[in-house]
Amino acid sequence: MPARVFSIANQKGGTGKTTLSMNFAAGLSKRGKVLVIDADPQGSAGQWSSLAPDHRLFPVSVISIGGNLAREAERFIKDYDFLVIDCPPTLETEIMKLAMKISDVILIPVLPSPIDLWASMRLVDIIEQAKITNSKLKPYIVVNQLEPRSALSRAMKQALAEFNIPALKDGIRRRAIYRNSALEGASVYCMGKRGEAAVKEIDEIIKEIL
Ligand SMILES: Nc1ncnc2c1ncn2[C@@H]1O[C@H](COP(=O)(O)OP(=O)(O)OP(=O)(O)O)[C@@H](O)[C@H]1O
Ligand SMILES: [Mg+2]
Repeated sequence: MPARVFSIANQKGGTGKTTLSMNFAAGLSKRGKVLVIDADPQGSAGQWSSLAPDHRLFPVSVISIGGNLAREAERFIKDYDFLVIDCPPTLETEIMKLAMKISDVILIPVLPSPIDLWASMRLVDIIEQAKITNSKLKPYIVVNQLEPRSALSRAMKQALAEFNIPALKDGIRRRAIYRNSALEGASVYCMGKRGEAAVKEIDEIIKEIL
């Protein structure tokens, strides 16, 4: 079976692409062989995994591909069950085009404000374009950095409802463990009791899209 390919994309910076990529990949690793492809020249995913002293803290291989995704993609798709592509915060690269071409799912992390959501509007057009040649492509919004104990604002709910891309039922809360685990090169899955609530929400996301 060829790998299922997930791209984590948003041209807006700092919305949680790398955080979601790494934790999502760690969660998937319980279900098959996973490779994280760091497609961002900033190299955050690669740096993250290089902080981990061994595979117990981050049980997934990360490869930084620079511009070579096209050449390697076929081999990765044959060799793995899941590929997770951590995309750069820009739309104007060949890597983004290729990611859209080979992906089954695009996860778009957004911050919980309508202004942030609107900033991702252009991505909608690009996904629509990509669907012409890749009809299997399924995009989902993932609301990130939700404030504990406060519901989504009415404005945000309305903006989500008007957006052409469905939002996953469960988002990701703002939790210190997401920052702290990254500092240790770990996923939230390796943080014991402190990571439990975060693990639960990442598992919910995985369940909803698999
Ligand atoms: N749910 C969360 N709770 C707490 N902190 C978070 C959460 N999600 C992301 N962060 C923090 O927010 C910052 C930005 O996240 P991240 O690097 O994952 O975003 P990004 O979209 O990959 O950024 P870039 O566009 O630069 O690649 C990081 O410091 C990260 O630790
Ligand atoms: Mg990033």
